[in-house]
Amino acid sequence: MSLRELAARRGLIVGSCYNPAAFAEDPRYGEVLAREFNGIVAENHMKFRFLQPERGRFTFEVADAMLDFAEAHGMMARGHTLVWQHSNPDWLEQGDFTRAEMLEIMRAHIHAVLGHFRGRIAAWDVVNEAISDDHDGFRAKNIWFQRVGDDFVDHAFRFAHEADPTMALFYNDYDIEWVDAKFERTYRLVAGMLERGVPVHGVGLQYHTRAMDAPKPEAVLKKIAAFNALGLTVHLTELDIKIPTQATEKDYREQAEVMAGITHVALEAKDCPAIFFWGFTDKYSWIPNFTKGEYDHTLPFDRDYRPKAMYEAMATVLTGE
Ligand code: XIL
Repeated sequence: MSLRELAARRGLIVGSCYNPAAFAEDPRYGEVLAREFNGIVAENHMKFRFLQPERGRFTFEVADAMLDFAEAHGMMARGHTLVWQHSNPDWLEQGDFTRAEMLEIMRAHIHAVLGHFRGRIAAWDVVNEAISDDHDGFRAKNIWFQRVGDDFVDHAFRFAHEADPTMALFYNDYDIEWVDAKFERTYRLVAGMLERGVPVHGVGLQYHTRAMDAPKPEAVLKKIAAFNALGLTVHLTELDIKIPTQATEKDYREQAEVMAGITHVALEAKDCPAIFFWGFTDKYSWIPNFTKGEYDHTLPFDRDYRPKAMYEAMATVLTGE
């Protein structure tokens, strides 16, 4: 049985990000993606610079083609992402906009994008990676924070809710599952939003992790329970499990154990119905490049689309054996 069949029987979505170049050049890519996964998210093509390369000119074609594929194969789609410090077009990065203009650009973008994709996407990462790693509050290097100020996150969520009141709106970030301070900052942010009546419905734990020091399942379960107690859903949104490029059998085994633990977490948590990998074949992972060759082999399938131990580990836990 495929991962998606096993996951569906447990009420889970198991998804992957989607790379249109890989899809175009390698027929096996689409075959395995459709066979094994019931969730999809654009690796890059729903980011601001891809959707609005020039002010007021929107390019939805690549994202639409992905959604056609998703619908043909009964896959749930996540939207990623509306407001972020990366992947912004030059006109936005370099424009000399006032706070009022920035808010209008944010509003117009969110309305256009949510309006266009209405009915085809189940949940959006409204704001991505806004929280600082080393101090309370937002990261300083973020055009939205710099030009709008502390309330940019609230505004983004309000605009999104206005644009599509049925949409599940997520705050998404890395290390929430791993670094206690990052978790606490995220918790304070979303709890504060709820107190202020800002429409937020979920938290995305990116889960870019390393096999050698991945967070303990019990600790992650506690963090998810805290968000769930606020009434928020949790999705694991960008899972990959790094092992050294020169990996040994032991590294692959350790990786499989981490994968089993994460699958247990999603099954045992009160409200954590989705595990999205950041890719599914090592052939197209962003990690070797991002880590300058230090880490590799992060995903359930190897470069020849053969399922790895980490795939078997997830399947076994989903089967309930
Ligand atoms: C990454 C993509 O995988 C790369 O192809 C791109 O060059 C940079 O962005 N956190 C996120 C994702 O929220 O959007 C990032 O994706 C990985 C880290």
